[in-house]
Amino acid sequence: MGIALGLVGLGQFGREFVGLFQSHPEVSRMAICDVRADRMAAVARQHGIAECYASLDEMCRTDLDAIAIITQPWLHAEQAMQAMEAGKHVYSAVPTTYGPDGNALLEQCDRLVETVRRTGQIYMLGETTFFRRETMFCRQRAAQGAFGALTYGECEYWHDTDSPTSNLREVWRNRWGDRWSDDKRGCIPMHYPTHATASMVSIMQAHVLSVSALGYRMPGDDWYSEESYWGNPYGNEVALYRMSNGAIVRHCEFRRIGHPERESFRLFGTEASFIGDPSGARWTTRQGWESLDLSGVGEPLPAPLAEDLGGHGGSHAYLVHEFVTACARQRLPRIHVWEAVRYLAPGIVAHQSALRDGEPLPVPDWGDPPMGR
Ligand SMILES: NC(=O)c1ccc[n+]([C@@H]2O[C@H](COP(=O)([O-])OP(=O)(O)OC[C@H]3O[C@@H](n4cnc5c(N)ncnc54)[C@H](O)[C@@H]3O)[C@@H](O)[C@H]2O)c1
Repeated sequence: MGIALGLVGLGQFGREFVGLFQSHPEVSRMAICDVRADRMAAVARQHGIAECYASLDEMCRTDLDAIAIITQPWLHAEQAMQAMEAGKHVYSAVPTTYGPDGNALLEQCDRLVETVRRTGQIYMLGETTFFRRETMFCRQRAAQGAFGALTYGECEYWHDTDSPTSNLREVWRNRWGDRWSDDKRGCIPMHYPTHATASMVSIMQAHVLSVSALGYRMPGDDWYSEESYWGNPYGNEVALYRMSNGAIVRHCEFRRIGHPERESFRLFGTEASFIGDPSGARWTTRQGWESLDLSGVGEPLPAPLAEDLGGHGGSHAYLVHEFVTACARQRLPRIHVWEAVRYLAPGIVAHQSALRDGEPLPVPDWGDPPMGR
């Protein structure tokens, strides 16, 4: 017997996950939900789904076991808590939470962790970088001790605002829908840090202790502005972290950069290093370097998912499998809430540091999961 799962949020990203959840052999019943009836009707027709709900409130009143939340980023945390309070396991798209006020976001992290702890529901963050091949490969190598001691890392998420493949002006206008107004322009790059931080935190098995960060303001910028709802003038932000294992990490979130979109990292150890760059991945030691073919890197997946891994470096199928099997077997998913806040909090505090021209600031940590979770 599999789990009964509902997916809320059938916008640009959420609809990519419907077929994957539906085809998982341990999902026995699939429901969908969107406040936009047109989007729901189209997805219901495409995937032959009869169980449709007009709102998350309605879905929370059903006997579904789990809800995948792929709504606008500023809704995730409150909706996740609502669903867990209603007795549902939760999959949340990244970031864990989002908004202009860093202190309010950290306070939401507190409440989210407390809600998981108190309700005992399963919570997983759908961070795509966790299951990119580069990250899986380096986690394996780190577990084997092949890096020696990890000493330094560089990670980045570059997504130019005017990208021809995913124009951020259009992405944000679409997300706000009829609530769009010109003051909503911009956003805060460092409040979306998880594609970069997930690699460092999950491979090093360490968290960020403190940060010093700087922001770059593009001359005459018409999108990132202090006058906007986000109150942020920086299109690019750079953070330097001290990690709990003693390593140093440099993290770039760039939204003003003449470069194709890129999520990548380099990781340096005392015995070996990993260099991920657009021309290919390399493994280096004192003796020299070798090019890496990462196409065979992966984990076992059930047949329908293994045939089409989905987007973001083939990570979608792994995310679906990790969450469904965690729910079906009542185990802690690898990207549990204590891990999720370790990806997010460094970026939130980095932005606070950047607004204070690099003042070093401590980064809060919520600890490891309690034993037995
Ligand atoms: N690599 C990645 O991990 C990645 C990539 C893209 C997007 N995302 C995340 O995915 C999420 C969705 O992004 P998107 O671009 O698809 O947004 P979107 O605005 O296109 O879709 C969100 C949908 O949620 C629906 N919704 C909102 N509140 C609802 C409610 N209470 N009940 C029912 N439906 C509700 C909206 O009507 C909308 O259709 C974002 O949070 C984003 O951060 C992650």
